[in-house]
Amino acid sequence: MKKAALFLTICFVALSGIVTAQNRTEITLEKGWKFTREDNVASQNRDFDDRGWQSVRIPHDWAIYGPFSPTNDRQDVAITQDGQKEAMEHAGRTGGLPFVGVGWYRNSFDVPHFSTDKKVSIQFDGAMSNAVVYVNGKEAGQWHNGYNTFHFDITNLLNKDGKNNSLAVRLENFTEQSRWYPGAGLYRNVHLVVTNESHIPIWGTYVTTPRVNDEFAEVNVKTKIEYPTGDATAADFELETIIKDTEGNPIAQQIDRLDNFSDNEFNQSLIVMNPVLWDVLKPNLYSVESKLIKAGSVIDNYNTTFGIRNIEIIPDKGFFLNGRRVNFKGVCMHHDLGPLGGAVNDAAIRRQIRILQEMGVNAIRTSHNMPAPELVKAADEMGMMLAVETFDEWGIPKVKNGYNKYFDDWAEKDVVNVVHHYRNNPSVVMWFIGNEVNEQSVMWGARVARFLQDIVQREDPTRFVSNGMDRPDAVFANGMAAMMEVAGFNYRPFRYKEAYGRLPQQIILGAETASTVSSRGVYKFPVERKSMAKYDDHQSSSYDVEHCSWSDLPEDNFVYHDDLPYCIGEFVWTGFDYLGEPTPYYSDWPSHSSLFGIVDLAGIPKDRYYLYRSHWNADEETLHILPLDVEGQRRGDHSCVCLHQSSHR
Ligand code: GAL
Repeated sequence: MKKAALFLTICFVALSGIVTAQNRTEITLEKGWKFTREDNVASQNRDFDDRGWQSVRIPHDWAIYGPFSPTNDRQDVAITQDGQKEAMEHAGRTGGLPFVGVGWYRNSFDVPHFSTDKKVSIQFDGAMSNAVVYVNGKEAGQWHNGYNTFHFDITNLLNKDGKNNSLAVRLENFTEQSRWYPGAGLYRNVHLVVTNESHIPIWGTYVTTPRVNDEFAEVNVKTKIEYPTGDATAADFELETIIKDTEGNPIAQQIDRLDNFSDNEFNQSLIVMNPVLWDVLKPNLYSVESKLIKAGSVIDNYNTTFGIRNIEIIPDKGFFLNGRRVNFKGVCMHHDLGPLGGAVNDAAIRRQIRILQEMGVNAIRTSHNMPAPELVKAADEMGMMLAVETFDEWGIPKVKNGYNKYFDDWAEKDVVNVVHHYRNNPSVVMWFIGNEVNEQSVMWGARVARFLQDIVQREDPTRFVSNGMDRPDAVFANGMAAMMEVAGFNYRPFRYKEAYGRLPQQIILGAETASTVSSRGVYKFPVERKSMAKYDDHQSSSYDVEHCSWSDLPEDNFVYHDDLPYCIGEFVWTGFDYLGEPTPYYSDWPSHSSLFGIVDLAGIPKDRYYLYRSHWNADEETLHILPLDVEGQRRGDHSCVCLHQSSHR
């Protein structure tokens, strides 16, 4: 009798294991891709012969292989943000790499665990850009923004047996679509998601922690479900929600019936006793397992990683993480990984975070676009706060073929996707709706800002919304600065006091600061503070005394961000150098990468790194000695003995 019971239990466990695996299968389509730069109109056809195409693996950035050339996206324009009045040649503005043009990718796939009652979606973590996706020769959908994650339901386009489906993706980049190197192609991962017809959709859970204290945390879990109408009713569905600790042990669970809720969305509140909080100091993570049950059988298993933490902004007092005042010691980061280009690479991203944390950085602004999921996951796991950004331009162009072409029709879809994608990630503490947009200067600009901020707050009322503004007079006048939840200013620390006096929020953020320029290991003499200095070798001095006409040196900014009680910190432009924007060498080919980084393109710290480290990483000692300005010493100028030393010692 006992033996029979044991046998039955084993059978049940084994069986439920198989059932679980078939409920939801996610695979990443990494291998087997073919790629060409030819714009062949037949490429989307399923029987198209692509044997002559290049074999590639995804993620793949077609342009990073070069060759570099001044004619790649040479932009003859005036960069008005930089004060240029006349159009001039900008050869390396977007990196001088061949990203412009059309690229096609093709692959074929079998749907795992296929049966005719499955739902199948394809998800692109980002495709640069203007993606058109075809499955078996038929269009599955389009997405313009190259940075955002999007997904399409492809169930009806699949072959009857689920096998040997052809997938073709057309991408097209234009000249003057960007102000920096955007990368090109399927530079982020592509996933296939297979579920039952009744299922929890992609990004179908929303986990918040409305009450957090030492004794307990209230965890609210909203879970959407989709099911074929006609075949089922709300009464058929139950949801078991299980919260698990870092080790995967269940610590709270609840089961509810769908017909107790409206809009096909479960709304459950669970209690976690003695919660271990997510913090930059200790990034503790929990997870939610959602089991969708129909007529007593589990038909979907969906996992969500989340953290329990408290974020608060108190006027005049600052930003608080878990009750502790934390100033943003932040950096702005573009998405490229230097020599790896745009192709996402988990190890390279984690290396960047390690190097920045060692310097004392606690936050990254994903300027000026949606980040890769790998960055957000790493930030969750490593304790780095994120300000996730959406756009560098709205409807009024900065560059001719930029997002302005799509803003009216796509802005809401893009904002909804990025917020749904990352609203469970504890590292994300703020959303940015824009950066130095030209709408700052029109009377109706605040309306557009409100439209975007409203969407963000509708989809995620738990985080703060900011916007990088660089035209204080204009945004005071049109109301944009007053309307933002957090007024973020780019390069205007000297106007914070005035802004504080004029604005209602009693909180100011240094959304973008410094823009000091330097080249690692290149020392220019005499050591003098200079604006827009240029040299024959196309470098800037590593003594960190050079900046742009609108920008500063780190120490110019520290005092504002440290001392003003209503200032919640800064995001320095930039943590790492990036491809493109070789300011001040706008026209000086072969300059094609930035000099703004505190760390260079290869990930090696410049001297400035140790200045920030001595100031920001107060728990460690910093002693950094630079080559001496011998000439200056000879002239008796002893300030040229260069030393960065911990300020607390
Ligand atoms: C800012 C802009 C950044 C970058 C930077 C260079 O105005 O927001 O994207 O261009 O200038 O200093």
